Amino acid sequence: MSDDETMRIVAISGSLRKGSFNSAALRAAQELAPQGMTIDIADIADIPLYNEDVRAQGFPAPVEALRERIRAADGVLLATPEYNYSISGVMKNTIDWISRPPGQPFDGKPIAVMGASGGLLGTARAQYHLRQSFVFMNGHVLNRPEVMIAQAQNKFDAEGKLIDQPTRDFLAAMLVAFAAWVRRMGAK
Ligand SMILES: Cc1cc2nc3c(=O)[nH]c(=O)nc-3n(C[C@H](O)[C@H](O)[C@H](O)COP(=O)(O)O)c2cc1C
Repeated sequence: MSDDETMRIVAISGSLRKGSFNSAALRAAQELAPQGMTIDIADIADIPLYNEDVRAQGFPAPVEALRERIRAADGVLLATPEYNYSISGVMKNTIDWISRPPGQPFDGKPIAVMGASGGLLGTARAQYHLRQSFVFMNGHVLNRPEVMIAQAQNKFDAEGKLIDQPTRDFLAAMLVAFAAWVRRMGAK
């Protein structure tokens, strides 16, 4: 947890592709964050596939570094794609690594979930799967506003800028609610 006035949020996108709408949504969140909140986007491209035999030898360096970043953060913001009605494999794989003992850093951590998809439901099904996982890990997920960016191809421009004003307003409102949630959880 950070000890100065700034509320530090670490963000993870569940998509590795360059043109990812979810990564673009996190960049929009950086722009729209309320005063006093900073959002750092973690790169999960180097997180290996989960293997319990590997973990038994110690967390791989990229995993340990991300666990430490989450531990030090005041909150976590996750943007998940929807793959086959659930979260993406890379998102699940990353969460599985982070969730392992000792001292799994999602325990008691304020978390906000969002997502962008090409479909009409804007990752609704994936987000509820993600929320379910945090019951076991005792992550404190903000209930609402829920940010589900449907038909993402119409909401971002070719450079990945979020250009749909109602979506920008909704995302900004969620971040304000998340800041209040982090304070309420006593994390800041
Ligand atoms: C394996 C796979 C499964 C998908 N399944 C769904 C789905 O269940 N629902 C949906 O709305 N979109 C689905 N899509 C489309 C994604 O929403 C779309 O590819 C989106 O751009 C992924 O997020 P990204 O832009 O952050 O990479 C799927 C895409 C892939 C590659």
